[in-house]
Amino acid sequence: MNNKNVSTILNQSTFSKEDIVFLLDLSSDNDIDLLFKKAYEVKLQHLSNEAYFRGLIEFSNYCIKDCLYCGIRKSSEVKRFLMSIDDISKMSTWAFNNNYGSVTLQSGERTDKDFIEFSNQAIKEIKKVSNDALGITLCLGEQSYDVYQKWFDLKAHRYLLRIETTNEQLYKSIHPNDSLHSLNNRIDCLKSLKKIGYQVGTGVMIGLPNQTTDMLADDILFFKKMDIDMIGMGPFILSKDTPLYDKAISLGLDSTEAKKYRTLLSLKMIAICRIVLKDVNIAATTALQALDPLGREKGLKAGANILMPIITLPKFRKDYQLYDDKPCLDDTADHCKVCLSSRVHSVGDVIGFNKWGDSPHFKKRNLL
Ligand code: 5AD
Repeated sequence: MNNKNVSTILNQSTFSKEDIVFLLDLSSDNDIDLLFKKAYEVKLQHLSNEAYFRGLIEFSNYCIKDCLYCGIRKSSEVKRFLMSIDDISKMSTWAFNNNYGSVTLQSGERTDKDFIEFSNQAIKEIKKVSNDALGITLCLGEQSYDVYQKWFDLKAHRYLLRIETTNEQLYKSIHPNDSLHSLNNRIDCLKSLKKIGYQVGTGVMIGLPNQTTDMLADDILFFKKMDIDMIGMGPFILSKDTPLYDKAISLGLDSTEAKKYRTLLSLKMIAICRIVLKDVNIAATTALQALDPLGREKGLKAGANILMPIITLPKFRKDYQLYDDKPCLDDTADHCKVCLSSRVHSVGDVIGFNKWGDSPHFKKRNLL
């Protein structure tokens, strides 16, 4: 048991695992409010009230992985697509013309030559249409060191690879038990990305079946130990026709109450990461909004500073559903821009247009 009170813990400069579990387990509205207020204060102190857009391009849903929670896993019967370089060109030109500082390239995982070559071309195209102005975050899964190096040489400078959970047993319970789905390999990938010089982001799913706040505290300590620059995380959401769906239903994770709990826990994770890690970039993810219409605004209020408006061409959106009830499926990039801008302003933040909005943590660790 932790016999300290919330205010004492929030004003510490270092945090034990016990402190983090205590904060994750806060239950009174008043205490939770104190947590979020402190996180927003730390955001203003170490960053600013500027939020940055990363236009999200989901360019393909082909995937060699079979993660038990994901709607585009290899075994799922969705219609598969791969955009053309011309599509990539259109979306990145739109992002550039609309003063977005960066884009994020995301897709299902593949490691074959054609995929690597397509990704090379996509990176080059984004740089070409923007005269090098658009920053690029990649979210293309586990790759070899040489591939990561190649993409970095082509000037992609941030990489997001969620660890999903750092608990070995939980990891095994949400992935097939084979060498393609290895927690250790994922950790090695994060190390390679750092060595190459990327700004490195990771994150977890929150509220997975059988996940405890003790495990989530270990996840935050892992982010700290790995000296991570960026965090992208969000609630676990049920995805029909996946193996984890039935298990989640049997545990009651589809009830309104359970969804509320996962949203709140995700916001607490954002706030605690802000307070413990201080100067990293943290995204308020689309998944937050899937469970709560005001999820992304609440994320900014809890200390997040990055938003990833979907700029995927509308005709592909319905085939890129990692989970059910994904918002923005019928929207266009123009809708998403207007909608997110008003969300940002509603919490008193502003948008850093035309800026990369790199992680201050990355800059500092490179000065050392
Ligand atoms: N619920 C929430 N997040 C999910 N992801 C995949 N499937 C789900 C789901 N059912 C997340 C994973 C992955 C990211 C691209 O999407 O964390 O890393």
